[in-house]
Amino acid sequence: MYRIPHLDLPPLNTVSGRVRLPGSKSISNRVLLLAGLAAGTTEVHDLLDSDDTQVMLAALAALGCGLQRDGRVLRVSGLGGQLQAHRAELFLGNAGTAMRPLAATLAVLAATQGGDFTLSGVPRMHERPIGDLVDALRPLGCRIEALGRPGYPPLRLQGEAGGRLATAAPIRVRGDVSSQFLTALLLALPLASAEGALTIEVEGALISKPYIEITLALLARFGILVQRQDWQRFVIPRGSAYRSPGSLHVEGDASSASYFIAAGAIAAQGGAPLRIEGVGSDSIQGDIRFIDAALAMGARIQSGPGWVEVHRGRWPLAPITLDCTAIPDAAMTLAMMALYADGPSRLDGIASWRVKETDRIAAMATELRKLGAAVDEGPDSIAITPPPADGWRAAALATYDDHRMAMCASLAAFNGLAAGRRGPGCAVRILDPQCVGKTFPDYFEALFAVAGAAPHDVPVITVDGPTASGKGTLAAALATALGWQLLDSGALYRAAGLAAQWDGVSPDDEAGVARLAGLLDLRFGDGLEAGRTWLRGREITEALRLESTGLLASRVSALPAVRRALHGLQLAFRRVPGLVADGRDMGTVVFPDAALKVFLTASPGQRAERRYKQLISKGISANIDSLRADLEARDARDANRSVAPCRPAEDALLLDNSALGIEQSVQQVLDWWEQRRPFPA
Ligand code: DC
Repeated sequence: MYRIPHLDLPPLNTVSGRVRLPGSKSISNRVLLLAGLAAGTTEVHDLLDSDDTQVMLAALAALGCGLQRDGRVLRVSGLGGQLQAHRAELFLGNAGTAMRPLAATLAVLAATQGGDFTLSGVPRMHERPIGDLVDALRPLGCRIEALGRPGYPPLRLQGEAGGRLATAAPIRVRGDVSSQFLTALLLALPLASAEGALTIEVEGALISKPYIEITLALLARFGILVQRQDWQRFVIPRGSAYRSPGSLHVEGDASSASYFIAAGAIAAQGGAPLRIEGVGSDSIQGDIRFIDAALAMGARIQSGPGWVEVHRGRWPLAPITLDCTAIPDAAMTLAMMALYADGPSRLDGIASWRVKETDRIAAMATELRKLGAAVDEGPDSIAITPPPADGWRAAALATYDDHRMAMCASLAAFNGLAAGRRGPGCAVRILDPQCVGKTFPDYFEALFAVAGAAPHDVPVITVDGPTASGKGTLAAALATALGWQLLDSGALYRAAGLAAQWDGVSPDDEAGVARLAGLLDLRFGDGLEAGRTWLRGREITEALRLESTGLLASRVSALPAVRRALHGLQLAFRRVPGLVADGRDMGTVVFPDAALKVFLTASPGQRAERRYKQLISKGISANIDSLRADLEARDARDANRSVAPCRPAEDALLLDNSALGIEQSVQQVLDWWEQRRPFPA
């Protein structure tokens, strides 16, 4: 899949509106495993759809679980504790929440029911320790082999049918490296409880206790009541068996909420708060306690079941010194908020950052320094002094294939609001932004839906040119490559023409068509509906592309009142992080201040040929000579009309794409853009 190399954020200055969070990663992967082991079918609602849940789903499918998706519901038919497949090679990406519990589960199942499984992941997964879990399982009689470096994945798990596990003695596991080892044992060991209760004893201080609470709460939903004695001993009762709760709802991800809580604390000023939906005061996730830390830094926050509302309070934010053991993931967001405080902050108890998707302490220190902050890195701490008011620097922030580094980086884009700053804010470049796919594939879309910038800070690239010059294709490809918004202005004129046709208004009735154009109830699909368009609730995707609609558009677009009526609608497309606009007058009339203007040309003969091939490939018969005559007639009308004739802006760059493929054209424009807006390395 194409991954955009970087995403440039203009200086952001507001957030408002609502965000709906995707499902929690921690809950999703635990629920999937439990549902996969349980007897019966579990309906899982609002499951997270991300890289980490994809690998878990693929693993469950390989093990023989039934998976059936129906909109926002996934039906999982579980194994009832009985292996269907006794051999599998499972690739688990960089998902710790899949690797650790599956390693424990399959080790136990192989040892008792017979099997041969290998678990592997991306190179970073093979650097993330699992030795403490292996050491806890081996004394039970599990055969576990590290295929690479001892103590790290990939692992091979083997056993013979009819094997018995030594469950009488307590199972000891370290608690101070990753709580996922204890979670893995808690999820897997009910499988070995037929003959007697099992006791797990934690060695060393247990970190990330809230994640253990999630594990215990979900085990209880599946009928397994673990007795907890302090945070040292956990007893799984004899005969514990996973029972499907029937249906289960996955709450929104509290760690993902932290980015929006921070954005609200920094930039939700004036009227309405930023409302975050999907997680709230009733959450079972430990990271919801991030709210307390944000309050301590001065945010104004209200919450209820399933929602949180945030508003800027104290400004600048108050510096914070905090032991973050209980909120290891959301603590990264505090490091970003520290940039907006009026003094140095210090986060302690974050040793686990070193064994996550990347060494997060080192990564955070490196990237915050690029922005102008002074950072002290300790073995399990980080201290951050914000940049001086005018010491912020435009920076290209690396993300280390770590979703949280990328989401954190976006919060640097509010730098223009930093207290005491004179002059404009600076842009922030995020490298490999799509690594957010691990837990929040639509993170940037969600951010852009609520974040605002001064219009002159939002860059625009215009692509104007005659009919069939390929500007629509070029503009769409540019928008994808840059991660920007797209305005196909021709579609607005086409829709205005259709509206007139539907209402029996003549395309020459200037006032009549202008009135309809001013009230166009037009919706462009996004996400799964990208590329589809609705007018007054009726889908017009096909109708828009008809030649007859193009001719109608050419007529109504010659009417000055119609052009005026559509002007404001076009300006509204200028939204963060940037806009690619295609049409006839984008560079001359609508966005005269565009940062880069391109005028596409290709000979009429070539354009007629392209249109001809396009029609033939759709099974529509066509005549190349009459197509060419039509094109030339439309060119003449578009170029010679009195308002906004189709001509290159004085400062436009001409691109004759007669002999260029689409990729070459896109690359040419991207190169021009890099020259116009060089980014400090
Ligand atoms: O780009 P297109 O073929 O979808 O445009 C349809 C008609 O709309 C075209 O004949 C010219 C007109 N148009 C315009 O006048 N100004 C624009 N910005 C875009 C399109």
